[in-house]
Amino acid sequence: PLLLALIGIGGYLLGSIPFGIVITRALGLGDLRKIGSGNIGATNVLRTGHKGAALATLLLDAGKGGIAVLIARALAGEDAAQLAGFTAFLGHLYPVWLGFRGGKGVATFLGTLLALSWPIGLMCCATWLVVVALTRISSASALIASLAAAPYLWFIGPRSMIVLALALAALVWIRHASNIRRLVNGTEPRVGR
Ligand code: G3P
Repeated sequence: PLLLALIGIGGYLLGSIPFGIVITRALGLGDLRKIGSGNIGATNVLRTGHKGAALATLLLDAGKGGIAVLIARALAGEDAAQLAGFTAFLGHLYPVWLGFRGGKGVATFLGTLLALSWPIGLMCCATWLVVVALTRISSASALIASLAAAPYLWFIGPRSMIVLALALAALVWIRHASNIRRLVNGTEPRVGR
C-alpha cells in the first residue's frame, strides 16, 4: 500500500508539470492563459504560431502520462500502471502549481493509453487524426477519440482497462464544457486558421 501511494503521488506530480506553460515561457511566446482559449495544451500553444512549441507540448504532455505508466508497471505491475496513468492525468487537469486550474487532458490521455495498451492507444490517436482531418476542430477530435477508447477496449481488449478509459473520457468531456458549448453554437475555431 505504501508503494502504491508513492506511485499515485509520483504519477500526479509528473502529470502536473504544465509543459505548455513551461515551453511558451521559455521561448518568450507570451502568456498562454491570455491567448486563444486560455488552455495550457498543445492546441492552444499552436495559436501562438509556433508549431515546434505545439509539437513539443503535445509530445511532452503525452510523454509524462506514458512515463508514469511505464515506471509504475516496472515497479509494481499492471494495476499500479493504471493507477499512475490515472493520477498523472489528474495532475495535468488539476495541477497544484496552477491553483488546480490545468488542462483538458487530451495529450496525457493518449500518452497514458499508448503506454497501457499500445494498440488501443494507436487506434485512439488514429481516431483523433481522422476526425481532425475531416473537421479541422481539435476539440471535436478529442471528444470522439476519448469516447472511442471504451468500445475499442470492449471489442479488442484488455477489458480490464474499460473502467479507467470511461473515467478518463468522462473527465475529458467535463473539461471540454466550454468547447462543447462553442461546438453546439457553431463558433468553435478550427486549427490552421
Ligand atoms: O487539447 C484540448 C483541445 O481539445 C481543445 O483545446 O485550446 O481549443 O480549447 P482548445
